[in-house]
Amino acid sequence: MPTKTMTKNDYPRIRVTPPGPKASRIIAQDRAWSSPSYIKAYPLAVTGGKGAMVEDADGNRYIDFMAGIAVSSTGYNHPKVVAAVQEAAGRFLHICGTDFFYESMSALCERLAKIAPGKDKKRVFLTNSGTEAVEGAVKLARYHTRRPHLLAFQGAFHGRSYAAITLTASKVKYRAGFGPLLPEVSHLPYDNPYRGVDGLSGAMDLFEKKVSPKDVAAVFMEPVLGEGGYVFPRPEFVRWWRRFCDEHGILLVFDEIQSGVGRTGKWWACEHPGVEPDILLTAKGLGSGMPIGAIVAKESVMTWPRGTHGSTFGGNPVCCAAALATLDVVESEGMANARRIGERLTSGLLRLQRKHPCIGDVRGQGLMIGVEFVKDRRTKEPASELVEKLEQTAFGKGLLLLSCGRSTIRIAPPLVLTDYDADTGLSILDDCLTELSR
Ligand SMILES: Cc1ncc(COP(=O)(O)O)c(C=O)c1O
Repeated sequence: MPTKTMTKNDYPRIRVTPPGPKASRIIAQDRAWSSPSYIKAYPLAVTGGKGAMVEDADGNRYIDFMAGIAVSSTGYNHPKVVAAVQEAAGRFLHICGTDFFYESMSALCERLAKIAPGKDKKRVFLTNSGTEAVEGAVKLARYHTRRPHLLAFQGAFHGRSYAAITLTASKVKYRAGFGPLLPEVSHLPYDNPYRGVDGLSGAMDLFEKKVSPKDVAAVFMEPVLGEGGYVFPRPEFVRWWRRFCDEHGILLVFDEIQSGVGRTGKWWACEHPGVEPDILLTAKGLGSGMPIGAIVAKESVMTWPRGTHGSTFGGNPVCCAAALATLDVVESEGMANARRIGERLTSGLLRLQRKHPCIGDVRGQGLMIGVEFVKDRRTKEPASELVEKLEQTAFGKGLLLLSCGRSTIRIAPPLVLTDYDADTGLSILDDCLTELSR
């Protein structure tokens, strides 16, 4: 792993309180010219990285517990991924996979089809992003079933295009002011064991009073809620929806854009409850940061004929090379490491929970771990302000964190995280919580 070549003392290190002068110049230029819609969680201006270490413009070094929102799966600059990208870039940058052929695209389609859960033969459409995979899946589901209605879940995040924001219901700001959205979309409760939400409670009511299952093309589900708070539903919840979809000829679409590609210690999070989708969506960690996603569907479902769907850039040769190398690294070291370090991190976080009453819940699989903060363990009132302060305080001490939901920190580091990274990150987190409780 890349971090083995470093001495322990190389990072984290804060040489100048961030943002230092060089980072501040970059940030000022960005603020003057970039879209005001960008979030910019804290003033981190990156110039490089290695393994799970990120370096900023002023030479500060951080341990990354968020992987650029669960994307840098193989860490920063994994030599095998960088070599694959350089080799592919040296040959050709583009020819358009919608119209022509090249080996990395056909190889990636075969690889994804074969690692997708379930025995049925699959086919693959390559995209530039997660949102584009969601958008394509909405079209495919309606095209294949010739039904209009779509179901999604409260708390879900599926991306930023019109179809994707219509399916999204994690924060109102993603939708407000952008209407009218897509017609024929309903949201149902998502199972939340910590908050005592039985996700199945609302379903039958909807089908009795408002929507006939015969009009439903697809159910879009994240097997683990990502942006909505790293919520892990009961396996029964996911299995119930598989049975319901089978009974009514509805397609079950798993959005594994955040949870897939080895993050939970298996290729796909849906393998934990043992449920197979009809359509699987992936992106984020697939290309280690190179923009690539995919719609992986059963051959019997991917029935749209020639020319009905395409993309100029989707399945770009350099991105395909990055994805193939990423899958090799995840298969050979990432997944096993996600399980091992995931356990180490989870037990460390449970220790912190015993010490800090603000930690209401710790839940996770592999390196997809949610730490939910509350004002009071009995009322479970979300401690949103504390989480904001925690992100900033940790940043100042050399640890990169990112929140999700109302008051959860998502621990989603690169899958190549080392023992040193995990233990040092935990100790910084401990210091931050001690400081913030004073
Ligand atoms: C579950 C899920 N679906 C879809 C998306 C959208 O992906 P992208 O930002 O690549 O368009 C995201 C991004 O956070 C996601 O987490």
